[in-house]
Amino acid sequence: MPVTIPEDLLAQRSLGADWSAWLDRLPRLAADLLEEWHLRPTGPSRHGHCSLVVPVTDADGVPGALKVTFDGDEESQHEGLALQRWGGDGAVRLRRADPRRRALLLDWLPGPDLADAWDVEACEVVGALYGRLHVPPLPQLASLASYVGRWLDELDGLGRDLPVPRRYVEQALSLGPDLLADAPEPVVVHGDLHYANVMADDAGEWHAIDPKPMVGDPHYEPAPMLWKRMEELTGPLAVGSLRDGLRRRFHALVDAGGLDEARARDWVVVRMVVNAGWTVQDARAAGRGLEPDEQDWITRCIAITKAVQD
Ligand SMILES: Nc1ncnc2c1ncn2[C@@H]1O[C@H](COP(=O)(O)OP(=O)(O)O)[C@@H](O)[C@H]1O
Ligand SMILES: [Mg+2]
Repeated sequence: MPVTIPEDLLAQRSLGADWSAWLDRLPRLAADLLEEWHLRPTGPSRHGHCSLVVPVTDADGVPGALKVTFDGDEESQHEGLALQRWGGDGAVRLRRADPRRRALLLDWLPGPDLADAWDVEACEVVGALYGRLHVPPLPQLASLASYVGRWLDELDGLGRDLPVPRRYVEQALSLGPDLLADAPEPVVVHGDLHYANVMADDAGEWHAIDPKPMVGDPHYEPAPMLWKRMEELTGPLAVGSLRDGLRRRFHALVDAGGLDEARARDWVVVRMVVNAGWTVQDARAAGRGLEPDEQDWITRCIAITKAVQD
């Protein structure tokens, strides 16, 4: 069975020449890896934003997932290293890696992921994973501080004309350096731990996949669990207000993860304001105003910033 490249992944061609070049190479790259690693594809490929995932069986007939990632994606460069460090504890087990080709052979996880789980229960699962994933640092990984320093400079550089209440911008700009200055012992941080990046194995145990690993404060981790699946907190099935829903999630994460509530809250504020700033930055770079979905995203960033503090 030849490897199929999903249409949605092929559509990433529009993102630039580096993407096109990788997508051109991808069928050959995948075919070479299958041959060298003695793998046989067993079904249609899956994909994320910047990767191809092929369900395979190895020479012994053991199911696996061959993941090949876009080589221009800096954040996931050390995905294999972090997975190796975790050794299958809290995260999917890595069986083989070729960092140069950005290729990983992972244990097959039949799922489901946490996208359809009750959100508060999902937060408890993810909070419980923090303790297993937040292990002592690896020297190869970039520090969270190196990223955050740059993000705050960029935010500051956007000037005063932002569609975010000024007090929140000021707050993020002052909390960020404080958080970095009195940080607890640094650990490996997953960096992108949300509902779709946690999958069940065939025994129903939950495993993180898809890390964008860094080294830093574990309290950095919760924000994506708040900003993903936000629409269901305001839809017809929502229990209570958006604020209530966000706070239920936040407290479930803090409790299950044994995090310091104030630090976790301050990181959410910093991350949400930085996120809003990026959206403005992207629109300005493209020489246009905010589009409705971008405006909507910024409104959500502000709602989260407010909800965790009220
Ligand atoms: N070990 C695995 N077993 C089964 N499916 C997987 C595995 N790893 C990834 N997938 C599937 O591939 C998708 C994309 O993988 P992911 O690692 O999240 O990449 P991305 O960085 O592109 O989001 C996942 O959402 C999931 O459906
Ligand atoms: Mg993913």
